[in-house]
Amino acid sequence: MGSNSFYQGPQKAPNRSFMKAMGLSDYDLSKPLVGVGVAWNEMGPCNIHALGLGNKIKEGIRSVDATPRMFATPVLIDGIAMGNEGMRYSLPSREIIANTVELTIKGHGYDAFVGVSGCDKTSPGIMMAMARLNLPSIIMYGGSTLPGMYNAEKIAIGDVFEAVGNYEAGNMSLQELKMMEDVAIPTAGSCGGLYTANTMAFLTEALGLALPGSAAPPAVDGGKAMFAFKTGKQISRLIENDLKPRDILTFEAFENAITVLMSSGGSTNGVLHLMAIAHEANINITLDDFERIGNKTPEIVNMKPGGKYTMAELYEVGGVPLVMKKLLEHGLLHQDIITVTGKSVKENLNKIIMPKIQNDIVYNTEAPISTTGGLKILRGNLSPEGSVFKISATKVKKHTGRARVFDSEEEAFEAVSGMKINKGDVVVIRYEGPKGGPGMREMLAVTSALVGQGLDSDVALITDGRFSGATRGIMVGHVSPEACAGGPIAIVREGDKITVDGEKGTLDIGLSADEIQERLQKWKPPSDKYVSGYLAQYARLVGSAAQGAVLM
Ligand code: FES
Repeated sequence: MGSNSFYQGPQKAPNRSFMKAMGLSDYDLSKPLVGVGVAWNEMGPCNIHALGLGNKIKEGIRSVDATPRMFATPVLIDGIAMGNEGMRYSLPSREIIANTVELTIKGHGYDAFVGVSGCDKTSPGIMMAMARLNLPSIIMYGGSTLPGMYNAEKIAIGDVFEAVGNYEAGNMSLQELKMMEDVAIPTAGSCGGLYTANTMAFLTEALGLALPGSAAPPAVDGGKAMFAFKTGKQISRLIENDLKPRDILTFEAFENAITVLMSSGGSTNGVLHLMAIAHEANINITLDDFERIGNKTPEIVNMKPGGKYTMAELYEVGGVPLVMKKLLEHGLLHQDIITVTGKSVKENLNKIIMPKIQNDIVYNTEAPISTTGGLKILRGNLSPEGSVFKISATKVKKHTGRARVFDSEEEAFEAVSGMKINKGDVVVIRYEGPKGGPGMREMLAVTSALVGQGLDSDVALITDGRFSGATRGIMVGHVSPEACAGGPIAIVREGDKITVDGEKGTLDIGLSADEIQERLQKWKPPSDKYVSGYLAQYARLVGSAAQGAVLM
């Protein structure tokens, strides 16, 4: 055991003194030491309950003769950071979470790791750490909130963001907005729609790093505590069998995860995060893999923001295993690859009983919502390295219009709030990429305002920044190379003609190659927005969104 070199033998008496000061015995220290990393703070509801789940996991670990110790990782609550400078810290928090797990586990000589995630960056950060450390490890998602009820309809936080746009357009009173705000998030847990947190929760199971069925139970459901205990117990089997994340995270496992992402119409952030986890696991996946798999994967999950339901409702009909079983039966998943259960995907799903009553939450693969996946990779003279279009979140697959150019989210939001965007426009928001933002902010405030004004089918938005999973409309993000790195998006001018074509998979500006080149030659990179602190470091180290925006 790796922990022996930290805690056994006469020379390690001082080390043991520290542990005994916390009540641990020699017997406790003779057993495998398992770090339980809980993404927790009191900044938002997404992870507020996670310590309780961590304690349940500890019970499970103790029950199989291992010694758990708990620690916290940072959590940045995206929904609160949204539309502010705070959002610049959101994507960078992913690397801080991964680094926190690495330094805590390696710095104290632990043998194994269990992670509890919740808000958006916590699942990817924890899974990146699992791949990096390659110790026996398992993740459990902390669960989402129950849906809110407003006007006898189930709502999630994305509806409140859009209500702000409705209010600004004069379609909703301040009192109605307040009533909605009061009830949108009724319990602890992450946002309820298939936004980024729940998308990544799907992928904990799809990658084989979490117990099947553990993602969908709501935060306040007894089923979540039960899964926490089982997750803790499972770590001893992983230790016994020396089954490690890189045994699980094969290229085929990532193909399964991309298939589940495409079938669900999940968040565009899923693309970034899967590439970052693959990078840590030394597996090479590219945007071409997303495009290839997206083209053959039917979209079958009817969840907000593109659809109707929340995670709590998916749980009632069978959760993520139901989605995976339908894909498996359609021959779309690799069935023999190993997972944290020690069993194959097929063996895990064999146990799943399909619901007897047909529902419209998870469609059959033979009659899907769409015959192709929910995300489309676009390339063209405006995004030579690629960009991501959440095609499931709009009925409009193609749009041509005149560019309205903004060099920051704030400038764009001011124009949208001031009702200065017209039908047919293509809003371009640039210098918001990983390096240029820095931090690749999500444009939810702008996209929600457009939706609230009823422009989601008539105005396109393209950006080198990101989108929240709650975004809908004709929205193309991750345009790469980003403006700050001299990508063609930097040379777009007001009135240029831009075409987004989700069917052909293209994003083009109506300029000749010579004209683009001429403009690029005149372009000068902007000065650094941050000269000290984490964002300055991040801007220096971060790579292209087309490769997952990982630190180099
Ligand atoms: Fe935390 Fe949405 S803000 S999951």
